[in-house]
Amino acid sequence: MSRRKVTIVGAGQVGATAAYSLALKGLADIVLIDVAEGIPQGKALDMMHARRVAGYDVSVAGSNGYDEAAGSDVVVITAGLPRKPGMTREDLLRVNGDIVRSVMAEVARVAPDAVVICVTNPLDVMTYLAWSVSGAPRGRVFGMGGVLDSARFAHAIAEAAGVPVSQVDATVIGAHGDTMVPLVRLATVAGRPLAEVLLPAEVDEVVRKTVNGGAEVVALLKSGSAFYAPGASVAAMVEAVLEDARRVMPTCAVLDGEYGLSGVSVGVPAVIGAEGVVAVEEWDLSAEERAVLLASAEGVRAGIAALGLGE
Ligand code: APR
Repeated sequence: MSRRKVTIVGAGQVGATAAYSLALKGLADIVLIDVAEGIPQGKALDMMHARRVAGYDVSVAGSNGYDEAAGSDVVVITAGLPRKPGMTREDLLRVNGDIVRSVMAEVARVAPDAVVICVTNPLDVMTYLAWSVSGAPRGRVFGMGGVLDSARFAHAIAEAAGVPVSQVDATVIGAHGDTMVPLVRLATVAGRPLAEVLLPAEVDEVVRKTVNGGAEVVALLKSGSAFYAPGASVAAMVEAVLEDARRVMPTCAVLDGEYGLSGVSVGVPAVIGAEGVVAVEEWDLSAEERAVLLASAEGVRAGIAALGLGE
């Protein structure tokens, strides 16, 4: 039986951690690709050494080329440059846009039917770019941002409420960035609405921690950004695809009329299965929630337009 294959492009902090999180699940062979010589090979070898003690039997291979990625079921794109001092958001958009374009050209060559999960920032714009150059059905290319933001939301709620994080259900939609939309009204703690469990000021603080979670990690690390939670979030989405789980996950999806939005991709609840986004769920949002979601999507649209894409 041929095993399933997941390729992760970008063997940096997020890509390598995603690979390890995924290896621990034992679901698929993994190929790590990076332009940096030796890095994907070295990290792959390290993960192969770990197999006997960490308890997985899948293979992890590293490469600077794409031949090993042939026939992948899933491709995850974490390749990109971080924003450097003096670089504007638009500069980053162009630099990472060029990287995502070049990766997608290789994916089209070696794994044209793969489900593609974009992680490179600015996430929502890069997801739209990856989809628009792919020629694939819109569900086949999506982005990972909301799973991470929702995990941070759940963590902040669990800390504030003093409960195990497994008792928290909480969803963040909108763009992966400052304009994200934590859905406070729909969050629950052991089945109870958040407003019954926390005081209004505590809820405000939880929202602040959710939105600033990534920046808080950056400030502490001094160089680099988060990778454990992003890596685990990638692995959870890959698992949903490989298992055809049809789980509802906050997903950066290319929209075609949902929430009144088209020609843009932004975080919304979506059913994730073997084909990628099987369906976008249209939740009954309040007028205020809808307004902030639309404002968040407009920011993404501006980025898409800056790349000369969109409608
Ligand atoms: N092809 C393959 N890999 C590339 C390319 C390319 N064209 N360009 C850069 N890379 C690689 C770099 O060599 C580096 O190893 O991408 C990797 C990025 O890793 P890090 O710098 O450690 O960045 P990381 O923290 O992993 O974040 C990666 O994910 O969450 C987002 O904002 C984050 O866009 C960033 C991406």
